[in-house]
Amino acid sequence: MSDPLFGADDEANTPLEAEERHALIPTYIALRRELNEAEQVNIAGALRWLSSRRREVLDERFLRTLHKQMFGQVWHWAGTYRQTARNIGVDAWRIPMDVAGAIDDARYWVEHQTYPPDEIALRFSHKLVAIHPFPNGNGRFSRLVGDLLAEQLGQTRFTWGSVNLVDPNETRRSYVQALRAADSHDFAELIAFARS
Ligand SMILES: Nc1ncnc2c1ncn2[C@@H]1O[C@H](COP(=O)(O)OP(=O)(O)O)[C@@H](O)[C@H]1O
Ligand SMILES: [Mg+2]
Repeated sequence: MSDPLFGADDEANTPLEAEERHALIPTYIALRRELNEAEQVNIAGALRWLSSRRREVLDERFLRTLHKQMFGQVWHWAGTYRQTARNIGVDAWRIPMDVAGAIDDARYWVEHQTYPPDEIALRFSHKLVAIHPFPNGNGRFSRLVGDLLAEQLGQTRFTWGSVNLVDPNETRRSYVQALRAADSHDFAELIAFARS
């Protein structure tokens, strides 16, 4: 049986370390469904917070603050980088360096128009989720960052398959497949998916 709180029914759903389960703030949460709900309410608050401020997406402090705004009512570690290994992502000690490198690259792409705006936003979003900076929430965080960077570059937000990608479903499988192609430096699938 998979754990009811962090079920292993979806391989792309990174399991948490036991110690990190203690980092839940709401004491009533016992089921995965309750966790998802609490996170969704938290993220809705982050979207309201975002709408009332100017933002520079390509900034490390902003990115950490954004993660904190998205998950800070649910997880004690929101906005702080992970310290333990994951099945996706770089070694924990590399995270600050790799995030800084991702920001530098994206700034360069923006300045030199290396790629079309959508592709810049999606390459940056994918780089973040591939680094996997936080203990959890990296998928939702990286998609919102992609949306915000697209907006900053004059585009609309992405549709990301137009369904809820948190639960396992066919669309989520296409999404993870597109991420895997992007891991191998092929971004065509992800670019098409994000506007589908
Ligand atoms: N092969 C992969 N390469 C890059 N990112 C991936 C890959 N497989 C899954 N992911 C991303 O990792 C996310 C899961 O990480 P997690 O931190 O649990 O985020 P969330 O809790 O928001 O789903 C998926 O939503 C997906 O965005
Ligand atoms: Mg998760």
